[in-house]
Amino acid sequence: MINGQKILITRQYPAAGMDLLKKEPFQLTFWEKERPMTPAELAAQAEDHDALLCTLTDRIDKPFLDRCSHLEIISQFAVGFDNIDIPEATRKNIPVGFTPDAMSEATADIAFGLMIAVARKFFFLHKTILTGEWGYFNPTGHLGYELKGRTLGIFGLGRIGVKMAERCHAAYDMPVIYHNRSRNPAAEKQLGARFVSFDRLLEQSDILSVHCALTPETRHIFNARAFRKMKPSAVFINTARGPIHHEPDLIAALHQKQIWGAGLDVTDPEPMAPDNPLLSMENVCVLPHTGSGTMEARDRMSVLAAENIIMFYKTGQVPHIINPEVLSG
Ligand code: GLV
Repeated sequence: MINGQKILITRQYPAAGMDLLKKEPFQLTFWEKERPMTPAELAAQAEDHDALLCTLTDRIDKPFLDRCSHLEIISQFAVGFDNIDIPEATRKNIPVGFTPDAMSEATADIAFGLMIAVARKFFFLHKTILTGEWGYFNPTGHLGYELKGRTLGIFGLGRIGVKMAERCHAAYDMPVIYHNRSRNPAAEKQLGARFVSFDRLLEQSDILSVHCALTPETRHIFNARAFRKMKPSAVFINTARGPIHHEPDLIAALHQKQIWGAGLDVTDPEPMAPDNPLLSMENVCVLPHTGSGTMEARDRMSVLAAENIIMFYKTGQVPHIINPEVLSG
């Protein structure tokens, strides 16, 4: 039952979901600044609240959870949740909601766009206009490559990976191979996707697009060893989480031409330093973590994050929950 619970809302989220919260008899606290709260500000504020609506810029780690173990629900505005210590929240019986699928189309568009942008050097060529280096039509300068029929490798063929594979299959008739924790029979049937080992994925992909969660197993899985196994013509795309690739190893692999190019929507750290060598490489395109950045996706995320809190207080259930074991006992 909703009867004045105090909800801390850590950023300026789209109105679509916030209006749903405002219609209920909650006491809402909105953090009004553009920047995220520091860990100290977050803990000090959360101490005095019953529930938290947060996102990937908020660090919900063990020290925070030790101090705020009274929280009744944490609702994350994102599909990824590596900013939250889920085992610790579970030990403290705090349900954690999230917003899956709201941004699958939007994020797949960014992966697909980065693939073309890298293959045709969009960002580098744009800079030649800004710096006055355009010059004349050059029959042999800065040539890219065509994507038709290239092999697409997907690491993590879940909701977003499938949307990327659908785009590549439909637009460029790409054969799809993938590696996952578990098989995806629906995608195998729909797209003819072929399950391969991680090493085969590295060896056979022309485009290798990352769509997995960041976990201890996937942290830095794309490292020097992995890049050495990839084709010299390969394009590496990461729209998932920056630490899934080891950035110095990626820079070295590109310098040594072990792979052809890279498209990144996520970096490690974020924000990326403006003098990062990746930003001046001809075959690299970097975006500032904007995969879910459409009006439609952000509205859906806002609604799901709000509904997770509202439904929890009305029914005891969280429609989209990461740790359901907390509520099933
Ligand atoms: C964005 O990165 C998300 O996890 O939703």
